[in-house]
Amino acid sequence: MTSAEKQKIACFLDIAGDYLGSGYKSACNEYQFDDDTENSPQITQSNADSIEIIAQEIKACGNCSLCQTRINAVPGEGVMQPVVMVIGEGPGEDEDKQGRPFVGKAGQLLDKMLSAIGLSRSENAFIANVVKCRPPKNRDPYPEETAACSQFLKRQISILKPQFILAAGRVSAQTLLKTTEPIGRLRGRFTELIVEDNIYPLLATYHPAALLRSEEYKRPAWEDLKLLRSKIGI
Ligand code: URA
Repeated sequence: MTSAEKQKIACFLDIAGDYLGSGYKSACNEYQFDDDTENSPQITQSNADSIEIIAQEIKACGNCSLCQTRINAVPGEGVMQPVVMVIGEGPGEDEDKQGRPFVGKAGQLLDKMLSAIGLSRSENAFIANVVKCRPPKNRDPYPEETAACSQFLKRQISILKPQFILAAGRVSAQTLLKTTEPIGRLRGRFTELIVEDNIYPLLATYHPAALLRSEEYKRPAWEDLKLLRSKIGI
């Protein structure tokens, strides 16, 4: 605890004492406190958030009803400080079975798309989802489910500090950008996502599952990837 934090608590206790004693508030006393953090760095470390801590919390999470039907929660995977953080919608059947993001058919296509522009989850990307547990029958996550999960995603973004965010699909783009605009209007241009006072350039594109369903999305998705490649410069 810092000296300023200790002073705040002492001041609060002074005020509480004043009110209890005589029903009025006098000025706070100035105390001489030292910063704990200077003398005990292990306290600082144990307070630090990490991708591993978040993953453990996600695996134990019971904050919404998706925990009742999941086999595995899927925190996400990839490298720290990634060039690109891909954020999908939520785990599907394969991801639920394996506890890993984008490992089914759509995931294999995503890996190919990333590789085409020099990205991979083992080298320079991190892959996560808006919700960490599979919605039954792959339905869209309900607002209360994305809300329950949003603190995990925000913490992941804050720790990873990706250079760019690629929102894969309508649900991801609309959830992150807090809009109901169709994905066809959200994709194809960079916008900004602000998390904890940091600004992340965000590009939305079609979900790889949409590309598997319909040829028409392949060309615009490739245009999006080329736009991303032109920005990341690798
Ligand atoms: N679709 C998603 O949005 N995320 C996954 O992890 C898998 C499929």
